[in-house]
Amino acid sequence: MAYTAPPFPSFPRPDTLDQFFVAGRHMWTDIDEFKKWKLDPSKVPAEVMHFLRSTSLIEYGVSQYVRSYLHYYGEDFKLSMWSAIWAAEEYTHYLVLRRMLEALGDGLTDEDYAGLERGDFYDSYLSYFESARLDGFDQRMAQLVFGVVQEHSAVIAYTAASKKCGIPELAAVLKRVARDEVRHSRFNQVTLESMVKVCPPEQREMIWPQFRVVISGLQMPQEHVAYFNEKHMGSELYHSLWDEKDWSRMVLYLTQYFGRFRKPLEDGVQELEDPVELGIAETA
Ligand SMILES: [Fe+2]
Ligand SMILES: [Fe+2]
Repeated sequence: MAYTAPPFPSFPRPDTLDQFFVAGRHMWTDIDEFKKWKLDPSKVPAEVMHFLRSTSLIEYGVSQYVRSYLHYYGEDFKLSMWSAIWAAEEYTHYLVLRRMLEALGDGLTDEDYAGLERGDFYDSYLSYFESARLDGFDQRMAQLVFGVVQEHSAVIAYTAASKKCGIPELAAVLKRVARDEVRHSRFNQVTLESMVKVCPPEQREMIWPQFRVVISGLQMPQEHVAYFNEKHMGSELYHSLWDEKDWSRMVLYLTQYFGRFRKPLEDGVQELEDPVELGIAETA
C-alpha cells in the first residue's frame, strides 16, 4: 500500500519517545525478584484477589488493544512506535501481577490464556470507537483523548487496589504500576499538546467535545473481549474498588485537563518540556 503522510505531524522529532522509553526501562529492573515472593492470601480481601486476576488478564490482552492503536495511528510512524513501546510496558504489568497471583497461590489458568488469545476484540472495539469518534476529528487525536482517559482510569484502579490489598509489599508494587499508568496518560497528553501546535484550529476545537463524549459513555477496551464478559470480569470488576471520591477526583482531574483546550490558544497550552511536566521525573 502506498504511503500517505499524516495531515500534520504528532512530533517533529522522536525525542519525546526517547524520554518515555528510557524512563520505562528504569521501572522494573527487579522483576525477576518477584518470583521469590511468598505472600499470605488470607490477608488479601476477596475483592482485591478478583481485581488482581482480572487486571492481570486485562494487561495480558494488550496484544489485542494494540491493533486498534496501530489502526488509528495509521501512517504516523512515531505514534506507531509508541504503540510498540506501550504494549511492552503493559505486558510488564501483566507479568508483575501474574507474579503476585502466583505468590498468593492463585495463578492464571490455561483457560484464561486461551480465552484472551481468541481474537474477538478488534471489530467490536472499532465499532464502539467509531460510534464515539466525532465526525471529521483526526483519528490519532481521538485515540489520544481516549488514551488519556483510559490510562488515567488505570491510575485510579491501581491506586485503589494498593490502598485495599492488605499487604504492604503488594501495596508498594501496585503504586509503582500506578506511576507507570501516570506516565502513559501523560504521554497521550504530551502528544495532544504537541499536535495542537500544528493542527488546524478546528481540530483543536474538537478535543473538548470529544472528551465529553468519551467520559459520558466510557467503555474500557476489555469490555470488547468476550472472555471478560463470560467470566464477569469486565469494567464493573475493574471499577469495583473505587469509591465515590475516586470517581469524582477522576472526573475533576480530566475535566480540568481537557478544559484547557476550550481556552484561546495563546494561554490554553503551556510549553511542557521539562521532565516533571512529562510525568517521568519520579521514575527516571
Ligand atoms: Fe498497565
Ligand atoms: Fe497503561
